[in-house]
Amino acid sequence: MVGCGNMGASLLARWVDVPGMTYAAVDPVATFPDSRVKTFKSAADVQGGPYDLLVIAVKPQMIADVIPDYLKYVRPDAPALSIAAGVACERLETVVGSRPIIRVMPNLPASIGKGVSGVYFNDKTPDDAKTLARQMMQAAGSVVEVDKEDDLDKVTAIAGSGPGYVFEIARTYVEAAKELGFEESQARKLVLDTIAGTIELAASSSDDLADMRNAVTSKAGTTEAGLKALNGNGDLSRLLLEATQAAYKRAVELR
Ligand SMILES: NC(=O)c1ccc[n+]([C@@H]2O[C@H](COP(=O)([O-])OP(=O)(O)OC[C@H]3O[C@@H](n4cnc5c(N)ncnc54)[C@H](OP(=O)(O)O)[C@@H]3O)[C@@H](O)[C@H]2O)c1
Repeated sequence: MVGCGNMGASLLARWVDVPGMTYAAVDPVATFPDSRVKTFKSAADVQGGPYDLLVIAVKPQMIADVIPDYLKYVRPDAPALSIAAGVACERLETVVGSRPIIRVMPNLPASIGKGVSGVYFNDKTPDDAKTLARQMMQAAGSVVEVDKEDDLDKVTAIAGSGPGYVFEIARTYVEAAKELGFEESQARKLVLDTIAGTIELAASSSDDLADMRNAVTSKAGTTEAGLKALNGNGDLSRLLLEATQAAYKRAVELR
């Protein structure tokens, strides 16, 4: 793994539990407190190999400068698994050469094994590499495979940026609870436990979300009054549509 910063270290913390895998991670500053991971400070320090998988977890703009120094440590046909946002296979191939390329778009809850990742395989990826990548990303949460590389930018707009939307929704919900008179810690508990419990319930069921909402909304009751204000004239629907479209547009611009 080249680059073991925020996202690299979060994934590695889950990947160490994938059976049969050991790792070498390179990062100028980060260390990784697990005996199954050998850590090195720079390309010049790396020992062992040739390695069977190259994980690219540096910032997108560093890839072309940094990654070539590591190619001598990996097998010529070793797959490259990149978590770099917006760096297409075509660009990655100019750096890592012709080999299997797996692009992954994880999101932040991967750090607690509850992420959701978009995964795209280039056409050179053999089945065993696909199986390994699926196992690794499932260790960090759930996986959505996409057949078109462009769809990874859509995954970014929905799931990659999603934790930001959810934090903001939760924050404003907590503010609203405080307006009703709750102190911060009570407001936070009421809101976060309501969101977490409701989402867990929804995830454990295959019922339609509108049906689940209707089941908790009695005629002329409190939930109906709240929902009328929240989305009675489509404001919330419009906002979420605009937010995800804006994020997708930006992901395409950053390609
Ligand atoms: N964070 C997220 O939520 C998220 C989500 C999806 C995808 N991603 C992708 O994940 C990648 C990493 O993002 P991040 O947020 O984890 O960034 P980050 O915390 O900055 O991690 C990148 C790490 O790479 C290190 N590095 C720099 N040069 C290196 C070299 N020559 N050899 C080895 N390591 C080197 C950096 O060290 P220095 O700090 O010392 O330069 C840093 O610790 C990006 O491509 C990003 O697009 C991130």
